[in-house]
Amino acid sequence: MSIKRAKITGIGHYLPDYVLDNAELETMVDTNDEWIRTRTGISERRILKDPDKATSFMAAEAAKEALADAGVDAEEIDAIIVATVTPDYFFPASAALVQKKIGAKNAFGYDLSAACSGFVFALSEAAMMIESGRLKKILVIGADKMSSIVDFTDRATCILFGDAAGAVVLEETEETDEGGIIDFVQHTEGDDDCSLSQPAGGSLNPASVETVESKMHFIQQDGRVVFKKATEGMADVSLEIMEKNNLTSEDVAWLVPHQANLRIIQATARRMGLTEEKVMINIQKYGNTTAATIPLCLYDWKDQLKDGDNLILSAYGGGFTWGAIYLKWSK
Ligand code: UT7
Repeated sequence: MSIKRAKITGIGHYLPDYVLDNAELETMVDTNDEWIRTRTGISERRILKDPDKATSFMAAEAAKEALADAGVDAEEIDAIIVATVTPDYFFPASAALVQKKIGAKNAFGYDLSAACSGFVFALSEAAMMIESGRLKKILVIGADKMSSIVDFTDRATCILFGDAAGAVVLEETEETDEGGIIDFVQHTEGDDDCSLSQPAGGSLNPASVETVESKMHFIQQDGRVVFKKATEGMADVSLEIMEKNNLTSEDVAWLVPHQANLRIIQATARRMGLTEEKVMINIQKYGNTTAATIPLCLYDWKDQLKDGDNLILSAYGGGFTWGAIYLKWSK
């Protein structure tokens, strides 16, 4: 009996129109374009300005584009997973709102919280659901309206993040198809120091005048700690998946890395023995869009992907969480 695999059959994205560039940030906080570019690689990021729109809007737009790309009707979708740390509400889940917005009336859905590793975790889970034979078509979405939790007076964090969504349709492969998601690894190491967190709004620190006044609803990050952990973790997990699957650097066509910091991406590529032409980098245009970075890369590079290309998707994020996927492209 042949093993069922899952493969990406459609990719979509959503980017808000508003461009917040480094020059505008210079007018908001004590920073400068040169510092931001050399420390992070970021030149601009997108911000969803419309107060009536949030993560599920961007996720639904990306999903509609992915469905059209796959030639799949919304009613054929069995499940929707939205990876996000900025859901419209704690509940109902953003996946439920997306289900309604796109008319996926036969799908169940839920949100997955794994910060910047969210898309990698969600895609791995969806692949297992399809491999089990129980589900046929799944929408996997990474979407974050980071501007809703960024303190635009904190120069250490406000320069990093942007808003966006990316989505893929995952379907069962044909029996003869060599492609699809071949393998994945996922890791978690609970960080009770909360080096990267949104401290309030949950059940430990519910919203109060004090939590608002002390800015506890905004992202707080110990940049140096997270930088060190992410640099090691993303490179380690990328090597781990290569070794597990006997892949050399020549075998890898593309590294699709989470876009948190250009220096982290470059360190990962170096450890994998990859030249920069094999690395998808769009951080300069969008910043860190958390769960959306990897599907946004897939979208931006989709016309360059060839059947048989070996892709390594790799991410590190808050939690801490980290993971990688080995995917052989076939469309
Ligand atoms: O996606 C999830 C995972 N997240 C990450 O992977 C992010 C990981 N962290 C980072 O990418 C980096 O730590 C940052 C980009 C956040 C910061 O870069 P860094 O090289 O670690 O800088 P630093 O925090 O060590 O700060 C160096 C200096 C400090 O000044 P002093 O103490 O040396 O005088 C900061 O106050 O740069 C200062 N600084 C800034 N200067 C101009 C911090 N932010 C800014 C700024 N503009 N925006």
